[in-house]
Amino acid sequence: MERGWLHGKGFLLFFILHLLLQGRGDTFTINCSGFDQHGVDPAAFQAVFDRKAFRPVINYSVPTHVNISFTLSAILKVDAHLQLMTSFLRLSMIWHNPFIRWNPDECGGIKKLSIATENLWLPDMFIQEFMNVDQTPAGLMAYVNSEGHTKYNKPMRVDTICKLDIFYFPFDEQNCTLSFSSFAYTVENMVLGMETEVQELSNTSRNLTQSKGEWVLLGITQRAIKMTVSSNQYDQIIFYVAIRRRPMLYIINLLVPSGFLVAIDALSFYLPAESGNRAPFKITLLLGYNVFLLMMNDLLPSSGTPLISVYFALCLSLMVLSLLETVFITYLLHLATTQPPPMPSWLHSLLLHCTCPRKCCPTAPHKGNEGLGLPQAQLPGLKEPVELVEKSPGPGEAEVAGGSRWTRAQREQEAQKQHRVELWVQFSHMMDTLLFRLYLLFMASSILTVIGLWNT
Ligand SMILES: *[C@@H]1O[C@H](CO)[C@@H](O)[C@H](O)[C@H]1NC(C)=O
Ligand SMILES: *[C@@H]1O[C@H](CO)[C@@H](O)[C@H](O)[C@H]1NC(C)=O
Ligand SMILES: *[C@@H]1O[C@H](CO)[C@@H](O)[C@H](O)[C@H]1NC(C)=O
Ligand SMILES: *[C@@H]1O[C@H](CO)[C@@H](O)[C@H](O)[C@H]1NC(C)=O
Ligand SMILES: *[C@@H]1O[C@H](CO)[C@@H](O)[C@H](O)[C@H]1NC(C)=O
Ligand SMILES: *[C@@H]1O[C@H](CO)[C@@H](O)[C@H](O)[C@H]1NC(C)=O
Repeated sequence: MERGWLHGKGFLLFFILHLLLQGRGDTFTINCSGFDQHGVDPAAFQAVFDRKAFRPVINYSVPTHVNISFTLSAILKVDAHLQLMTSFLRLSMIWHNPFIRWNPDECGGIKKLSIATENLWLPDMFIQEFMNVDQTPAGLMAYVNSEGHTKYNKPMRVDTICKLDIFYFPFDEQNCTLSFSSFAYTVENMVLGMETEVQELSNTSRNLTQSKGEWVLLGITQRAIKMTVSSNQYDQIIFYVAIRRRPMLYIINLLVPSGFLVAIDALSFYLPAESGNRAPFKITLLLGYNVFLLMMNDLLPSSGTPLISVYFALCLSLMVLSLLETVFITYLLHLATTQPPPMPSWLHSLLLHCTCPRKCCPTAPHKGNEGLGLPQAQLPGLKEPVELVEKSPGPGEAEVAGGSRWTRAQREQEAQKQHRVELWVQFSHMMDTLLFRLYLLFMASSILTVIGLWNT
């Protein structure tokens, strides 16, 4: 019994000594005899596994070179409210572990081994913009070759903070950054490098993200800097991820319906204001537009003021303005048919100035009337005076002198009234034309803006 115990103790001592000697030697070659017959012997790697808490270097003054690369495989979401970009990427890191080395010829030709990462030292790479807990799955593997080069790939779903500028929504481009650096190791202990060229990385990522998501990857560029945090310097590689939104969904769901509603509202100027149909029609449109805005609110970015919101506000204001104008004109025409008030002289001269055909005025109401197809005299109370004026040289000329005088005075009054009514009708048509042209101008400029933004 005693001897057996002593024997066991001696064996243990020998084993520890053996390990220490193996570790202390100049070359840390793993003895892999029997790998080809009995599989990998865990004891052969035990010395490496025991060192996993420490950075694997022989001389601690020498920094570890970690080469990184990643492929962006999806852009899942870009949240303008939280200013977050959610993407999925595959991070790949390569470094050298001098304690792992074997001779492939002695080891049954094994050149590459996969080792569970919980047994190895791993660089603590993190993304500075990362705003979530690391959800890296457990039980990942790393590949180690016979020279000690270790390659570790890990999938990451990253929520990174990104300064989003949604002014040109939905024609916006964003430039998000992913800054990789070590969390703990300063530049004296860890130096970062690129595993693949950034152009290749960008090409591969573009190929992978070509699914029909909302965002298109334009390209990735890279810059290496030294980051200083409280007198410590850290190596950092910054990747700029440029993405652009696919605007089609928003054009179809936001711009087209809004444009149609405004166009119908513009066309409603063809409805004669005198008939009283126009105001209800415009109110219905306004209601429809509000419902549209309410429903489409989800599609708009929930923060900031994009240009498209300004456009919607302008559309709404234009519709309200035209409704107000219609109400005003309806009131005016009603007033004109009952007891037309005299037109203020400034308004009269303005009207004359604008109707003057010689001057190339933007608002020539007569032309506008024809263009708009508004019938000139449609007022119910207008018919009689027109007839009265036209049949002035009638057979009833030779009448009683007193009666004739009375008729003439009445006729003059009627003519004056008729003139006033005509002036007010002209004025209302001028306002209609003015507003109609404002609509045309607005629609043309918004179409040009959309085309301009789309093509840049
Ligand atoms: C490797 O280990 C075997 C026994 O496991 C031993 O016989 C052999 O001598 C060792 N080789 C070296 C180079 O240490
Ligand atoms: C460790 O590395 C430093 C810097 O490269 C060097 O000056 C030093 O001599 C090295 N130490 C040994 C023991 O090799
Ligand atoms: C890292 O990249 C540099 C330059 O591309 C290269 O010289 C070095 O060997 C690489 N290191 C590793 C561990 O792959
Ligand atoms: C990446 O793609 C561009 C064209 O899309 C090509 O010109 C370039 O050579 C490619 N670069 C690499 C490294 O594949
Ligand atoms: C991208 O995909 C195209 C074809 O789909 C292929 O020809 C090209 O080599 C790919 N580029 C990269 C960098 O994978
Ligand atoms: C993104 O921003 C960086 C720094 O501001 C700049 O160097 C890079 O060219 C930008 N990328 C694009 C595609 O605009």
